[in-house]
Amino acid sequence: MSDHVIIDDMATGVRLIRLARPEKKNALTGAMYDAMRDALERAEASDDVGAIVFAGEPGMFTAGNDIADFVAGAAKPFTEAPALRFIRQLARTTTPMVAAVDGIAVGIGTTLTLHCDLVYASPAARFRMPFVELGLVPEAASSYLLPRRIGLLKATELLLLSEPFDADEALRLGLLNAIVPSAMLLDHALAKAAALAALPRGAVRASRHLIRGDQTAVEAALEAEAVAFEARLRTPEAQAAFMSFLTKSKPARS
Ligand code: COA
Repeated sequence: MSDHVIIDDMATGVRLIRLARPEKKNALTGAMYDAMRDALERAEASDDVGAIVFAGEPGMFTAGNDIADFVAGAAKPFTEAPALRFIRQLARTTTPMVAAVDGIAVGIGTTLTLHCDLVYASPAARFRMPFVELGLVPEAASSYLLPRRIGLLKATELLLLSEPFDADEALRLGLLNAIVPSAMLLDHALAKAAALAALPRGAVRASRHLIRGDQTAVEAALEAEAVAFEARLRTPEAQAAFMSFLTKSKPARS
């Protein structure tokens, strides 16, 4: 489906979803979102998968949505965009999910971790949600989940000012379970996922549901965000921000 997403099913019952587009810092294209959604859907339907791990390349989790795709997709309905279809599946997935974040984690690279049950990062992890800076609004229900996770004022700082934060800050905010050296990060995440997969599956899913609560509000939030996001994609503000990145007229900020 996409050469840039590698799916590996382990004997431990773990499905590894690895982003592999290093030449573009693992920026996510429509085909990559489709591949990730398909991997989640098939995991849900399979008795062989007891946990899912998201990982990237050494030094880069993902630079977020491919900005050229934002430009190309602005005229199309966002409600059917691969990104949104992936996000919907992410929110409704009942199989436990683990993230292994090394290096840059921009946009969806940060917000997808809010849907994960366990999140590990290397000391080099650098998170950022530059939606507003790009003329957009938050996605993946981050406008709902983040204030509830870290408090309204801090969430406002991160979502409105697009402030970057490192692994130490993420750990302090309760967005990480642990910081693990880069060389051990993936093995650590895979081991935790294998431990989840080895537990009674029904009990894990039922407990996960109790821990995370009803997802109706999360799904409503991501749909409301999607309506605003679609409107914002077409604005001159957003188009100018995309062009400024694509033409390198503004220095990258990590
Ligand atoms: N969409 C499309 N291309 C992207 C991209 C993205 N989100 N992020 C990086 N790339 C591309 C760059 O255009 C560059 O391509 P080129 O070599 O063909 O010119 C390549 O990936 C390397 O990126 P570069 O910016 O040179 O790397 P860097 O290490 O200096 O900076 C980032 C890394 C992540 C800080 C920077 O690329 C960045 O800010 N990217 C945009 C992040 C973003 O706003 N994402 C959208 C979130 S909603």
